[in-house]
Amino acid sequence: MTQASAPGKIILFGEHAVVYGRPALAVPVTQVHADVDVTDVSRRGIWINAPDVDLHAELNTLPSDHPLASVIHNFLFLSRVSPFPNLEINIASTIPVASGLGSGAAVTVALLRALSSHLQFPMTDEDVNAFTYEIEKLHHGTPSGIDNTVITFAKPVFFVKGNPMETLGVGTALTLIIGDTGISAPTKESVNDVRKLWEADKPKWESVFDRVGRIALEARYAIERGKKKELGKLTNQNHALLQEMTVSSPELDRLVSAACEAGALGAKMSGGGRGGNMIALVEAENIAPVVEALKSSGARNTIVSVLN
Ligand code: PMV
Repeated sequence: MTQASAPGKIILFGEHAVVYGRPALAVPVTQVHADVDVTDVSRRGIWINAPDVDLHAELNTLPSDHPLASVIHNFLFLSRVSPFPNLEINIASTIPVASGLGSGAAVTVALLRALSSHLQFPMTDEDVNAFTYEIEKLHHGTPSGIDNTVITFAKPVFFVKGNPMETLGVGTALTLIIGDTGISAPTKESVNDVRKLWEADKPKWESVFDRVGRIALEARYAIERGKKKELGKLTNQNHALLQEMTVSSPELDRLVSAACEAGALGAKMSGGGRGGNMIALVEAENIAPVVEALKSSGARNTIVSVLN
């Protein structure tokens, strides 16, 4: 049996504007992960079990554009494995779906790594990243590539669409609390809505994206130099610009305000928005009150993640 896993991720700064070429920062979230194992079996076929989505099927009975089937078909095509292997593939994930934690990209990365090592078709991180980006494009329209990059390399990244991956240096440990609204919201829709706004008034939205890009750059320096207070302010400023893009929601705004009132240095929604997760930057001694405030303001779940 061959096993592989991949972490979740969270975007710290720059979502949406990153689709328009501005920089963004994202970090892996190892408390949640996708796990895949692959085993040889005697019965004919490639049998997929993904109990989280209630899927138990042979590959060829799935539509070819099914997200899991498309990864396996593309892998088999690329690796030219012959004869076709008889396999059982078990897929499990603790990453909530459509909530900004990168569940789709993490399943693809874990599945590719398990297949590539089981079938002895070596893939570098760059290969896995490029392949996962192609799969993201099939299912999400015009992704920037930030999800596949941070999940493949499993390191904090400073990301600019189309540029090679840059690792983000972390000057001092940062405590983040991730709060889940429990509302799943497809990123594709919020990305399409922002595109409509942009098409209707490009000068205005280009300048909003520029402001987000500057915040992401300043945040990079603040993270590298351990300037937490400054980072907190930048977090709040980024949230305000995401509200202007109409991608926040009352539930996200409520969690962001609750975190700030409970003493967070700053807070913002994260990812596609309209639901999913928000993040709060806190001093280590403030974890408990902020977690409590998030829970009593409707957070379904919280994750404390230390970035160092
Ligand atoms: O919803 P998520 O975490 O997958 O993030 C999407 C981030 C966007 O900037 C909105 C889209 C993208 O492709 O970068």
